[in-house]
Amino acid sequence: MTVAVASTLTVENHLPADFTARALRQDVVTGLSAPAKWLPPRWFYDDRGSELFDEITRLPEYYPTRAERSILRARAAEIATVSAATTLVELGAGSAEKTRLLVDALRATGSLGTYVPVDVSDAALRTAAAGLLWEYPGLAVHAVVADFEHHLDRLPATGHRSVVLLGGTIGNLVPADRARFLRDVRAALRPGETLLLGTDLVKSPDVLVPAYDDAAGVTADFNRNVLRVLNRELGADFEPEEFDHAAVWDAEHEWIEMRLRARHAMRVRIPAVDLTVEFARGEEVRTEISAKFRQDGVAAELAAAGFEPTRWWTDEDHRFGLSLATAR
Ligand code: SAH
Ligand code: AVI
Repeated sequence: MTVAVASTLTVENHLPADFTARALRQDVVTGLSAPAKWLPPRWFYDDRGSELFDEITRLPEYYPTRAERSILRARAAEIATVSAATTLVELGAGSAEKTRLLVDALRATGSLGTYVPVDVSDAALRTAAAGLLWEYPGLAVHAVVADFEHHLDRLPATGHRSVVLLGGTIGNLVPADRARFLRDVRAALRPGETLLLGTDLVKSPDVLVPAYDDAAGVTADFNRNVLRVLNRELGADFEPEEFDHAAVWDAEHEWIEMRLRARHAMRVRIPAVDLTVEFARGEEVRTEISAKFRQDGVAAELAAAGFEPTRWWTDEDHRFGLSLATAR
């Protein structure tokens, strides 16, 4: 369904309430019935979760947003020249705060006509889309409420496109899903179109762990938010404050795991899926992985998906990497 909101803003919704409700039920049954309990991170992002993520990006410990913004500030003009995009498609756009740097550069080259933010969070998407529409007169904004793991075949096909995925969000997919996602992005593009991909880099756990376990407890609140979503959407009776937040560096997989750890033995009812979940004291639910990358690994994954790695940049502290890749 496409709804015209203003002359140059359209919102297209591929996530009808019943689709989302089915997907949530399925994920909860699969993840919380497994011997090692887990939940997929996309359920963090209700209205409150999107706000908490934005708060995380301003925390002193959470360096990825600042590092990526510094790369974009230095390289946006080059990205605009190389990509020559007339349509900018941003997956997992969130507040699209850093995107302004790209839009400015693409507008300066005169090429950009349409911005397509894509997100599962309807509220974040509408706020971001309205902001961009207001700030860039003449820019057509076509917002798409969709799941980038399922709906890439529905992206607009017009113009010379650049798909961007910023923030290191690709690191929230497990490796098999990541490979499938990159292949799907490639399949959605024509040869010569580009992918701009932000990846957080492997570094000392002394830097990584505090970024996911900040002193003010905002990340802990973000993590527990998934339980509030399950309570509201499925009638569950989780007591979020009875779970401790944990951020653990897995050196073998080179990813951070966020977990929720039960403070004591408990039994949780989830009526909408007719499930009772038992937790032993100290038992954990994995709620997110956030993979960290190396340049050669990113290049290999892009090449395996059918992209030519074209440019690679990092910030001056080498904390974050940004790749521009061209569809072969
Ligand atoms: N790009 C922004 C926001 C990153 S937060 C930045 O760099 O700061 C991750 C964003 O991806 C959130 O807005 C979340 O709602 C969205 N998201 C998570 N899983 C998604 C999925 N499967 N499909 C579409 N959007 C998703
Ligand atoms: C959206 N994503 C890239 C964030 C990350 O760093 O993995 C989500 C997040 N989780 C905890 N803090 C931020």
